[in-house]
Order: sequence, then structure tokens, then C-alpha cells
Amino acid sequence: MGYKHVYDSWKSDPEAFWMQAAEAIDWDRKPSRALDDSNAPLYEWFTDGMVNTCWNAVDRHVEQGRGDQVAIIYDSPVTETKREITFRELRSRVATLAGALRAKGVEKGDRVIIYMPMVPETIEAMLACARIGAVHSVVFGGFASHELAVRIDDCTPKAIIAASCGIEPGRTVKYKPLLDGAIEQATHKPDFCIVFQRDQEIAPLTEGRDLDWHDVQQGVAPADCLPVEGNHPAYILYTSGTTGQPKGVVRPTAGHLVALNWTMKNFFNVDPGDVFWAASDVGWVVGHSYICYGPLIHGNTTVVFEGKPVGTPDAGTFWRVISEHKVRSFFTAPTAFRAIKREDPKGKYREKYDLSCLRTLYLAGERGDPDTINWAKDLLGIPVIDHWWQTELGYPAVGNPMGIEPLPVKIGSPSVAMPGYDFRILDEAGQELPRGELGAIVTPLPLPPGTFSTLWNAEARFRKAYLDRFPGHYETGDAGMLDEDGYLWIMARTDDVINVAGHRLSTGGMEEVLADHPDVAECAVIGIRDELKGQLPVGFLCLTKGVNRPHDEIVKEVVAMVRDQIGPVAAFKLAVVVDRLPKTRSGKILRAVMVKIANGEDYKVPATIDDPAILDEIGDALKTIGYPA
Ligand code: COA
Ligand code: AMP
Repeated sequence: MGYKHVYDSWKSDPEAFWMQAAEAIDWDRKPSRALDDSNAPLYEWFTDGMVNTCWNAVDRHVEQGRGDQVAIIYDSPVTETKREITFRELRSRVATLAGALRAKGVEKGDRVIIYMPMVPETIEAMLACARIGAVHSVVFGGFASHELAVRIDDCTPKAIIAASCGIEPGRTVKYKPLLDGAIEQATHKPDFCIVFQRDQEIAPLTEGRDLDWHDVQQGVAPADCLPVEGNHPAYILYTSGTTGQPKGVVRPTAGHLVALNWTMKNFFNVDPGDVFWAASDVGWVVGHSYICYGPLIHGNTTVVFEGKPVGTPDAGTFWRVISEHKVRSFFTAPTAFRAIKREDPKGKYREKYDLSCLRTLYLAGERGDPDTINWAKDLLGIPVIDHWWQTELGYPAVGNPMGIEPLPVKIGSPSVAMPGYDFRILDEAGQELPRGELGAIVTPLPLPPGTFSTLWNAEARFRKAYLDRFPGHYETGDAGMLDEDGYLWIMARTDDVINVAGHRLSTGGMEEVLADHPDVAECAVIGIRDELKGQLPVGFLCLTKGVNRPHDEIVKEVVAMVRDQIGPVAAFKLAVVVDRLPKTRSGKILRAVMVKIANGEDYKVPATIDDPAILDEIGDALKTIGYPA
């Protein structure tokens, strides 16, 4: 059965297609139907099924004779540690932690924030929540206290599970002060925190609130898997939108199980027992879907890698991990390959390792630029598969389904729509554009199982951001085009979201921080092209009248503010002071033109511009910081 056959079978009968895919899941009560459209345009899947994620990701493999198979390989060059955990061990560890959570009062539907680095205990914490029907929200370790506080107030967790530290090359990131700062800033207070102490940093515990990871598990009864309704939220994952208030993407349980399981063979072409590695972080959707849930649900061994593509200790780390652990399918972001290419352009490190185990490289998270894809293809001699998706969607929506049929690769395009999607390109007025023309990328509702059902506590925002502009469709927020073969080409975002080293960030959120500086009257942040990270944020500051301080001092202060409030992951290091910002006569800042100037691209002076001379001033200011590069 080729791609066309599979895609057409979905299109002609989506209900049958997803019910068939659902057969691969162990249900406590089988759903009577796939789609629930009783509340359209809000859709749900497998609503009357009863199921447990942890059972499907862990226990059932033990029951089916995979207990001694390694479930998690932990490989941490930054701590020089390697460890393997079998499915049987994982079941016991997760059941005990789940028992401890329950003993402390965490129940079905309660939220639990997890603020932890790339250690197996993070996966165990996620699975422990799933086991008892608690809803986890993992917060990426590169976010600072303020971001954590915003998430605490939004999802009001009963508990927070944190590690004492994360390890970045050259520094230990102490999580406990960040956690304390966040709880202090937040209005909502969790009942308790569980702290996983690492050898690199023993954090002082706050009496009456903090419990040690090991102590809390002493003598507790392990918890069984609690079946939950198909539409019960498995997790909330915050992602960047246009403002500083992140969007809490809600992932319902049953669709998540069915869809992720389907992708493991059909898309990533692995069989149960194969080793699958996604070099990302559990704090992002890639980590949720393809470090934690997807591989485990499907009976694969997953790799938890605590390191970077370069510098831990060298540009050969990825090749070592692949060859040592016999990785079959490997997934990362193009930026990781750009980092390796910059250090080792001739691929000398690669020659040291036998990579015959590796069949395919999958790249996503940002645009796969042709240079990087070609370099990776030449280096590894295997197919390099670009694919496109988003936190909201949870798994590949556009790609090349290697387990069904490898389609011809067109470098620069992530290929074709997966079952569940029928992408179209619309103009501003919502009219469908012909092939080859650029417009907003949308797909008709309902979105398939495994995608988000809403935004946590923000249904109005969900409708406004994704459903209202093109009724009957999901608006992706990306612009692009379809070619004559139905391949999708992703060109840009249509909002103020930027992509820095595969991390999705809000320029609006950064502007909110800059605007808080007492000397800043007005500001703008744009994403400019960067050879390594794809994009980098740059701030433009207009100072309050009468401020006479040296500009470099103010720039230093705003850079520190963004690092302190959003976190190091924002990679906000560049800002310039300007007299004015270019605006339309109605007062809209012309960010897209500013980006073109910074990138050294041709631009048209917009007819609506208030004063064209400002564009020259912007160009001059950018030159002072070395742009266009
Ligand atoms: N905890 C604390 N700090 C973190 C962090 C974490 N989990 N992750 C990143 N940071 C910090 C970094 O140390 C860096 O700090 P610095 O300004 O003091 O140097 C800052 O955040 C920016 O990080 P990053 O953008 O990742 O840059 P980098 O220079 O450290 O590494 C790459 C660049 C390309 C090697 C790195 O981004 C990478 O490996 N990317 C892989 C892609 C990926 O995982 N994408 C996720 C989605 S698929
Ligand atoms: P995130 O929600 O963090 O996964 O980011 C999703 C966004 O990243 C998408 O909306 C795109 O803008 C971008 N993106 C992800 N994958 C790709 C890709 N393969 N090609 C181009 N852009 C991508």
C-alpha cells in the first residue's frame, strides 16, 4: 500500500481510518466511534473510550514479554553517565512515583508542573502523572522564573516536580532558586514540590513545601494505571504566541496514543524493539512526542541524551551515540547539523564511527535549508527527511512517510500532507489560491486525533488564534505554497513568532520585557537571519525624552532583563537605540521591512509608510551591530 492509497483511504472514510489505527491501542473500554463533533467547531476524538497512557507506554510491553527490553537509554556526556532502564524497571519506578504523588493528594485531573532537565526521571515523572490521570505541564529548563510563574498561575498545579539542576556546557544551572523565585512571583501556590537531587547540586529544601524525590517514595504503595476518558487531557504544553502570555496547548489522551503510535511505523519506519532517538529536549513538543511518548507507546527504546551536538565533548557526539546504541531512526533540528557542520565541515568525526545501523535522518522544528540538508545527506549517505508540524499538532502533519512509501524528496519542501490533513493556501479574503501562489496555510476542520483540542483556560483565544479568520479551517500561522505535485513549501510565519535554534519564541513577549525598562518609551523586536540558529532576535529601542545615559548601558540592561525574565533560551543579545520606528500612517510598526533591511534583502518602501527616511535610520543603526551580516 503506497502513500496515495493510505491517504485516499483516510480521505474517503476518516472515521474508519482512525478506528483502524485505534486497534493498536490497549483500551479499558473501546471507543464506539472516533470523531465526536457534538461541540463543533471544537472537536474531540474517542470520547467514550477509556484508556491509560502509562499502561500503553509501559505496562503492556511488560505484559507482552518485552519486560527485559531496554525502554530508556540515558546518555549524558555532560555528566559522563550512561544508564539503561528496562520496561520492567520503568514500570516499577513509575508506579512507585505515581503512588507517592497519589499519597500526597494528587488526583485525576490535577495539574503537575515538571521543571527538569534531560534525565530519565523527567520521563518517569511524566509517566507517573499519566498513570494516575494527573495532567502534567513540562516547563523547559532554559526558561527563567518569570516564565515558570506565568505557567504556574495559568495551570494552577497541585504539585511541582523539579530537579536540583540542569547542566549546560561550562555551567550548572541551579533550578531551585528559579523554582523558588517563580513560586514567590506566582499568585497560585502548589501544595508541595518534589525535588530530584542531582550529584552536581544538592539544593536546600524549603521546609513544609519541598520533599525529596527518594524520601517521598519510601514505603508508598505503587499505583495502578487509572483508565481515563478519551478526551481527558494528557498534558498541557505552553508554546509561544504573539504576546508574552504563552498558549497552553491541551492534548487529549486517546488521540495522542492513537496518532503517535501510528506515526512510529508509518512515518518514522521503526518496529517495536528498534532504538529511536530524538535529540531535542522534553520541554518541547518534540520531546513529549518522540523522546517520551511515541517510542514508548510503540515499544521502541528511546534515548535520553543530555548534551549538545557540539562541545560535549566534540562534534562527533551524535555519531558516537548513534553507533553505540544502534539508533535506527534519528530526529533532530537542522540547527544541530549547522552547529556540527560549522565545527567539522569535512565530517572527520563521522569517519570514526560505524553508522550502518542508521536508516534515516529526520529534521524538523524550523526550515530545513538546502545547504544543511545536502551536507547531512552527503555526510551520512541516507535519506534526510524534512517534515513540518507544530506544538499544536503534536506529530508530523507534512512529511515523507518512510514506513509507507518513500516519496521523491524535493529539497526545501517537507513534502506532502499526512492523513488527517488537506492543506490549502488562502489569500487574505479566505479565497483558495492556485498552486504556486503564496498565502496562509490552512487545513479543514476537524484536525485529526492527537492534535490539540483547545488552549488551557482560553477557549476564546483558541478560537480567535486558530479558527475565526478562516471559518471551517485551522489556521497554521505559517505562510507558504503548494506546488503542482501537492508538495508544501513553508516560507514564513504570519505572526510575530520567531524560531531561534529550533525554539519557538515570541517577539511580542520580548517587547513586553523591553517596554518595562524605565528608559524605553517604545520598542520593537524582530527575528533576523542567522547562519547557525536560523533566526536571532534584535531589539530596537526608542528612549524616553530626556534620557541621556550611554546607549550601551541601556542595551546591556535590556539584554539582562530578557535573560532574567524569559530565560537564556531567548538568545536575546542584540539591541540598538533608534530615534523612531518605521510605521504605517495608522501606527503599525513595519517589522517585515525591518527584517528585510537587516537581512540585506531588497524591499519595497510601503506606500502606507509615515516617513520613508526612517528606514535609512534603521539601516544605519543595524550597521553599528554588524548587520546585514
Ligand atoms: N537549561 C538552561 N539553559 C539552557 C537550556 C536549558 N535546558 N538550553 C539552552 N540553554 C541556554 C544555553 O546554555 C545558552 O545560554 P548562553 O546564552 O549562556 O550561551 C542559551 O540558552 C541559548 O541556547 P541555544 O539557543 O540552544 O544555543 P547554544 O549556543 O547553547 O546551542 C545549538 C546552539 C544549535 C547547539 C543548540 O541550540 C542545539 O543543540 N539545538 C538542537 C535543536 C533542538 O534541540 N531544538 C529543539 C526543538 S526540536
Ligand atoms: P513548534 O510549535 O515549536 O514546533 O514550532 C512550529 C513552527 O516551527 C511551525 O509553525 C513553523 O513555523 C516552524 N517549523 C517547524 N518545522 C518546520 C519545517 N520542517 N520547515 C519549516 N518550518 C518549520
